[in-house]
Parts: sequence; C-alpha cells; structure tokens
Amino acid sequence: MNDKSISTKNDSIKIGRVADRLGGVEEYYFSKKLRQIDEMNKAGKQVINLGIGSPDLPPHPDVIKTLQEEAAKPNQHGYQNYKGSPVLRNAIAKWYKKWYEVALNPDTEILPLIGSKEGIMHICMTYINPGDTVLIPNPGYPTYQSAAKIAGAHIHPYTLTKETNWCPDFEELEKLDLQNVQLMFVNYPQMPTGQLPTREMFEALIAFAKKHAILIVHDNPYSFILNDKPMSLLNFEGAKDVVIELNSFSKSHNMAGWRVGMLCGAEERIAEVLRFKSNMDSGMFLPLQLAAAKALELDESWYDSVNAVYRKRREKVFELLNLLNCCFDKNQAGLFVWAEIPGDYKDGFELTDKILNDSNVFITPGGIFGSAGEKYIRVSLCATEEKLNEAINRIKN
Ligand SMILES: Cc1ncc(COP(=O)(O)O)c(C=O)c1O
Repeated sequence: MNDKSISTKNDSIKIGRVADRLGGVEEYYFSKKLRQIDEMNKAGKQVINLGIGSPDLPPHPDVIKTLQEEAAKPNQHGYQNYKGSPVLRNAIAKWYKKWYEVALNPDTEILPLIGSKEGIMHICMTYINPGDTVLIPNPGYPTYQSAAKIAGAHIHPYTLTKETNWCPDFEELEKLDLQNVQLMFVNYPQMPTGQLPTREMFEALIAFAKKHAILIVHDNPYSFILNDKPMSLLNFEGAKDVVIELNSFSKSHNMAGWRVGMLCGAEERIAEVLRFKSNMDSGMFLPLQLAAAKALELDESWYDSVNAVYRKRREKVFELLNLLNCCFDKNQAGLFVWAEIPGDYKDGFELTDKILNDSNVFITPGGIFGSAGEKYIRVSLCATEEKLNEAINRIKN
C-alpha cells in the first residue's frame, strides 16, 4: 500500500508525505538559527551577527547602474537562454583568462548559474545514482553533504586536520575502497578553515582523480578574498578531464543576494549538467546577467578596495578571538577567521551559545561543518569595524 500518512491537524486527511530522499536532511543550520536571532531581536536584544558570510558592502556603482539601465529597457524582460547570455559567458571567459590563466570556450565550457549553491545541487542530480559514494570534506560547506544525500549518495567524509594544513590526506584516501566513488567535493581557499591551496596539492588531486576515475568538483568562491594569487584548479595540466569548477559573484563582487555563479569545465560536462538544469529553471533575468558581466570587467582596484576593508576588520576579529583565548592562524583567506577554542569548553556549540546568550553576539560553531570542526568556531568578516568593536565590548563586559 502506498503510505501517504503524515501528521496533520485533521486526522481524517492524509496528504503530503515527505519524500524518502529528505530522510537524514535537516533544515539548514542558518535557516533555523536566523529564526532564533529574529526572535531575540524582536525581544529587543539587537544581536550582532558574525555568523554568515554575506558581504554587507554593495557591488561597484557601475554594476548597479548597468542593472538599472538595462532593467529600464522595455525589451529585456522575457525568458532567457538556458545556457546564459553570450555577453556573460564571454565576460566569464575573459575573467578566467585574465585572473586564473585558464582558457575556456565561452560557447561550450561555461554555464552561468543562479548561484553556485544551486550548482552543487545540479551537479549532484546530474551525476549521482542512489548508492554512489561521494567524498566530502570534513570540515566543509554543509551543502555538499545535503545535496549529495538528496540525490541518494552514500557520503564518505574525508577529514582535514590542522596537522596536514587542512589538505586531503591522499595516503588515507588511497586506503579506502574507491570503487563506487563518483564525485569528490574540494574547496580551496577552504571554507571554513581559510586554508589556501598549494600547486602540489592541486596536482596530487588531479592525479588521484585520474587514477580512480573520480569527478572532482572544485568550489572556488573565495579566491579573491584576502588572497593575492587567485588560483583555479582548471589551470592545471589535464584538469578538464576530471575537474569541474564552481565560482561565484557572491563574495568577490558583493553580490550574494543577486544569485549569480558559474560552472566551468569540459564541453561534455557542461552539456550533461545542462540536461538537468534546463529542466529546473528558465534562465536568469537578462539585466542581471549584463550587470554581472560588468562586474567581471572591474580591475585590480576593485579587489584591492574590498580587501582593504576586510583586512582592517580581520584585525578586530583577531582581537575578539584573543579575548576568547582562541588560537588561530593569521594567514587565512576568505571571508572568515577559523579559530580553535580553549580547552575549558566542550565544543564550539557551548562557546557560541554562551556568547549568544550572554553577549547577544552570534558566532558560528565549527561543528556545523563536520565533526572535525567541533573544537573550532568561525567568525565572519561581514560586519563593520564599529559592529566588531561593539561585539568586543559586549564580550568584555
Ligand atoms: C564554500 C562555499 N561554496 C558555495 C557557497 C555558495 O555561494 P553562492 O552564493 O554562489 O551560492 C558558499 C556560500 O557561503 C560557500 O561558503
């Protein structure tokens, strides 16, 4: 019998059984936490949110101007090409060439996305059959795990540790039965640890993927933040055979709410992902794509100006973390500082709950990124120096 039963307010009506594929997938941590913070704010607490990596600064004025001008035209409001506007794809190709020294064919090797988070889901739906194994970094961005689970994958977390500079331990990986491994998610500069990639590690990754016929998904949204040398995994010899790369406008161009990202890789991979994606959405608002293309034309002074702000804020975050007796590496890239908690707390949850309750400051517990993050916390740089000063004062008091 088809069991349609769920609990409803009226026991005689049985509708809306939640699909099995959501078993083991919970509402996103931040989605729940923001509700709690909302409640606290309604009660007058004025919580300072140092949790989320959503840039608080605006995009470049030229980007906003392009959006306004294009949106004001009468003929820009229809459905768009499923593969994205050629203007945006050309801009992405030029951007990849200029900053990463990667040659991409704008017609076949680039797929603009409605955010790279969505791209993670498209990739999982395109490549995972129920029972396939997916390698996921621990600690790592939680969406890799939930998207892969929704697609029916068996998750195998690979542990990153301070001792191996938060890089995959290939000796340990080689000991696994890799027969069923279909995908491996990788992300450098790494979130949450802020670890930068090395050329040797990227080369080893490609060799590993080739040896075991694993598709590497490199998620690269942080390469321009507090990092002088943006690197793409696609820059390496033979990469297009085994790598697809996600990139994003959210962090590098202060456009998180715009929802624009991109997938780059071999023509075949882009065509495969498009088979899923073109059944999922109906393209992106053209003025937004044209404004995004404008953002990619910005020169070095844009990235310098963004990083100058984050660099100053990071000093404040160091001060805050010293106050909490946390240990951290000062050479992290990306929008956060990752720090080890002092021994007097059981885990990062205990410390961050205490700070939220006592000081009305929200910091992310490292455990939400996987068990290897339990003794850590992550502080966002997406708050003004003024707010950071206020957070420091509240914690001091
Ligand atoms: C590692 C990582 N990948 C992807 C994303 C998603 O970025 P987007 O805004 O492009 O969906 C985030 C956002 O926080 C992230 O931290």
